[in-house]
Amino acid sequence: MAQRWTPDSWRSKPIVQVPEYPDKRALEETEKQLATFPPLVFAGEARALKRALAKVAAGDAFLLQGGDCAESFVEHNANNIRDFFRVFLQMAVVMTFAGALPVVKVGRVAGQFAKPRSSPTEKRGDVELPAYRGDIINDVAFTREARTPDPHRMLKAYRQSAATLNLLRAFSTGGYANLSNAHQWMLGFVKDSPQSHRYEALAKRITEALDFMRACGIDPETHPEMRTTDFYTSHEALLLQYEQAMTRVDSTSGDWYDTSGHMVWIGDRTRQPDHAHVEFARGIKNPLGLKCGPSSTPDGLLKLLDILDPEREPGRMTLIARFGAGKVEAHLPALVRAVKKEKRPVVWSCDPMHGNTVTANGYKTRRFEQVLQEVKEFFAVMAAEGVHAGGVHLEMTGQNVTECMGGAKAIGETDLSDRYHTFCDPRLNADQAIEMAFLVSDLLKKEQRLGQGRKVPAVAGL
Ligand code: PEP
Ligand code: CO
Repeated sequence: MAQRWTPDSWRSKPIVQVPEYPDKRALEETEKQLATFPPLVFAGEARALKRALAKVAAGDAFLLQGGDCAESFVEHNANNIRDFFRVFLQMAVVMTFAGALPVVKVGRVAGQFAKPRSSPTEKRGDVELPAYRGDIINDVAFTREARTPDPHRMLKAYRQSAATLNLLRAFSTGGYANLSNAHQWMLGFVKDSPQSHRYEALAKRITEALDFMRACGIDPETHPEMRTTDFYTSHEALLLQYEQAMTRVDSTSGDWYDTSGHMVWIGDRTRQPDHAHVEFARGIKNPLGLKCGPSSTPDGLLKLLDILDPEREPGRMTLIARFGAGKVEAHLPALVRAVKKEKRPVVWSCDPMHGNTVTANGYKTRRFEQVLQEVKEFFAVMAAEGVHAGGVHLEMTGQNVTECMGGAKAIGETDLSDRYHTFCDPRLNADQAIEMAFLVSDLLKKEQRLGQGRKVPAVAGL
């Protein structure tokens, strides 16, 4: 029998990747205060996302999840949010058209602040200080004061998330997300791309489809659904003090929801079945992500699914594969088979970022070709297993940064220093992200042609 779950039952379990707050009283007071603040999302929205993800699990939709590796306090402004949203929508339009499938849009945004680190400390010369763990915990500056975890940062992260979400909601429903706008932006991208010949055919077909619809009287002016979109938020549920404070009972269902975001995920370093992060996640009703890395085993994964999704609820679990280019074939098939054998209605998504981080010219970076290669390997394995390749999970920004190498504009090692702004991992820039969407679209189209996806859902008979 599973033990009783409460929002704080994680506190009696072993835990990794959390900060040691020196000021315990300030921490307690902050948690109390946060618990009185309004929820950021409504449980009904989390349920709507779960229904949308259930369609992905059934092979009838595709998941696009993406955003910053780590949001930061200094980069919080309207232009960044707008540019991110604009790029995200362009990607979604391309994928929707190519796959002829609805695209479920989930940002790594409005709450993606806390970071797991490979080492608890960072050493520069003779000085060793606590590692930077994300703006919700400490500051990136390399001084003892900046690196000391400060609970008040949680309040700032909450308020920033609320402001970000407010603007995203306005963009999603206020007319900015208009399909014609997204299409016009996409044409602008194609025109300026050195690889435009690769994208022109698809762009032209989208233009023709929209022209045809307009001629039939279907346009954003007459059809409000073409002016709005459903956009959801997600982040890693890492800083459990914050997540617990945002966890509330939904008055309509009596269930617990973590109201800090629509979907939360468990990272590759915090998925130990008997530890605190899994304990916390099992009791909330939000859709959950679970990162699956090279150390995931079929038995381990099934055990986690038993804990996190005992009712086998479609849309509850999104399994996010992140192995690294060249390693997918060695790890993924066994996991997919085990899950399929148990008829678990999960979404399989591909994070081609976290297994492909390298250092070049002193910068943490990723090669566009490697990222794409992992996506290709993921689609190939899913096709071979007869399971829908359900989505991609990307670290990306709407800005013209130089953090990942390659892409049509061929960012090289020596370009990295030009606009390297990330607070944590390197992100695809706006052009690289849209380019990736076109390339993923080719794979989606191929899958649809081969009859995977809709015809062969993740679980037969779903
Ligand atoms: C992340 O998604 O930012 C992350 C740290 O990923 P992972 O847990 O897969 O390493
Ligand atoms: Co990252």
